[in-house]
Amino acid sequence: MNIVPLHEEFGAQVSGVELSKPLDAATHAQLEQAINRYSVLLFRDARGPSQPIDSDQQIRFSQYFGTLEEEHVTYYSTGSISYVGRIGNILPDGTQFKADTRKARSQSANNMWHSDSSFREIPSLYSLLVAHEVPDEAGETEFVSARSAYQRLHANVQKNINHKVGIHDYIYSRTKVGEDAVSDGQRTYMRPVRQRLVRTNPVTGEHNFFVGSHVRSIEGMDDQSAQPLIRDLIDEATRKTSIYRHDWQQGDVVMWDNRCVLHRGCGYDADRYRRLLLQTRLRGNGPSLAEPGFDLTAAP
Ligand SMILES: [Fe+2]
Repeated sequence: MNIVPLHEEFGAQVSGVELSKPLDAATHAQLEQAINRYSVLLFRDARGPSQPIDSDQQIRFSQYFGTLEEEHVTYYSTGSISYVGRIGNILPDGTQFKADTRKARSQSANNMWHSDSSFREIPSLYSLLVAHEVPDEAGETEFVSARSAYQRLHANVQKNINHKVGIHDYIYSRTKVGEDAVSDGQRTYMRPVRQRLVRTNPVTGEHNFFVGSHVRSIEGMDDQSAQPLIRDLIDEATRKTSIYRHDWQQGDVVMWDNRCVLHRGCGYDADRYRRLLLQTRLRGNGPSLAEPGFDLTAAP
């Protein structure tokens, strides 16, 4: 296995692993170590140029790292469980839907910096995307490390946020792009959740703040002081030099650690281009509030 960093702060490209085949224990252990260290892993040409792994292979590979999370858009809209989410503008029958549809508008919310499923009581551990069809231009995905960003904060700011709890709310974030971006089922069942504002990696002990588009407020703070703080933290994490922008090639597999990485889609001309990435997500090990880390009952 060969591991080459993608960005000076985080991320690595991994080669020499065949994702379409079962992993041996040593390879799996090396990948666990790599994701904890680098936060974003890119696998390119693992099956030869432009050969994406299929859904069954994606599911098998994902399951080495945890328990699959059901895909929330389908679940809260129809009640049926699927473990593979479709990102882009291609329906299962292969037809393309246009930019001026509710589905497309809802997906455009992914263009805001976020951590996947931070609106769930148990937020996602890792997400994996496999590129099946990608546009010739645009449609990139950007990543940043909230771990590096935490390290850049002044000690007083770290002290101020370490023991706090953020409120994450899917309806709040999705309706930023339009009132019709959420379904009635989502509106009924997706309630706001509490998350640690600062998380700690259980393997490396490193800290990061946990924010993004789903964060509506911070407990114990009024909106006038919480909103600028949330904005400052997102701004710090997403400063230009800290962004790794991934330019997709067909067949790419990118896996990232939602505990400490923020990402966003860069948008593309959905009327002109076809785009399809299949996503699996792994459930976290428990609520962030139950993770080892800073004492949430201690005042700063
Ligand atoms: Fe996402």
